[in-house]
Amino acid sequence: MDLSHIITELGENRDQYFNAVAPPIWQASNFSFKDVDSFSNAFEDERNDYIYSRGINPTTDILRKKLAALEGSEDCLLFSSGAAAIFAGVLANVKAGDHIVSVRNPYSSAKKMFDSILPRFNVTVTYIDGKLLDNWKEATREHTVLFYLESPNSWTYELQPLQEIAQFARHSNIITFIDNTYCTPIYQNVMELGIDIAMQTATKYIGGHSDTLGGVLCGTNAMMKKIFDTEFMTIGSGLQPFNGWLLLRGLRTLPMRLERINQTTAQIIRF
Ligand SMILES: Cc1ncc(COP(=O)(O)O)c(C=O)c1O
Repeated sequence: MDLSHIITELGENRDQYFNAVAPPIWQASNFSFKDVDSFSNAFEDERNDYIYSRGINPTTDILRKKLAALEGSEDCLLFSSGAAAIFAGVLANVKAGDHIVSVRNPYSSAKKMFDSILPRFNVTVTYIDGKLLDNWKEATREHTVLFYLESPNSWTYELQPLQEIAQFARHSNIITFIDNTYCTPIYQNVMELGIDIAMQTATKYIGGHSDTLGGVLCGTNAMMKKIFDTEFMTIGSGLQPFNGWLLLRGLRTLPMRLERINQTTAQIIRF
């Protein structure tokens, strides 16, 4: 799908709001229904109807559609921060006794979850140098359920061979989760490489103006429904309408800002 179409058109039904170019902020906690039947039908899959903004909301839903399309995924969930997205995405996929293999030195909130929170529920983590596929294979145990990737890695910017790791993981029934914040889907389409869950902190490049936090998870419909029905709705850390609106505004200029970052980064490296 064309990038500028995604950023400026997709998910926007302007004729419903006086053809305003910038979408409105639907600052509403709950939504009314004409009759009881339509209200109870809406609960069949709360991702598809506006019921209560702890679930979905019309403003954040525009962003949700755009970010799913940008990532090339079936669906997307939006959180109040990147840390919340990491926490919900990982927690929804582990149970007591499970084991995770992670890149060494993931972003600090992921590391804290691995080191301090998950061990309380008997979930263990092995950190590896993620550059070599063999390291992922060697660290895999009988109860390994999730590979946690960050490519480039926080702090050290090392890369991992994502396609090979994803192939091995799929073959071994292991879920792959990547923090794709540094590249964004514009520079690294991880769905095409076979990764199951793509996370970004929208606080960084998507927002781009240092005025809001946000987190993104993208993946299959089934995976997003699983996370939505459990951690997303229960923890209640979904993105709020005003923050969604700020992120929509930021997203409009994402490709231009990334181009500029490319230029200035090269200058800094040369210097
Ligand atoms: C790579 C990376 N992942 C996740 C996070 C956490 O995102 P947030 O600050 O939106 O919770 C950050 C924040 O700096 C980050 O740099």
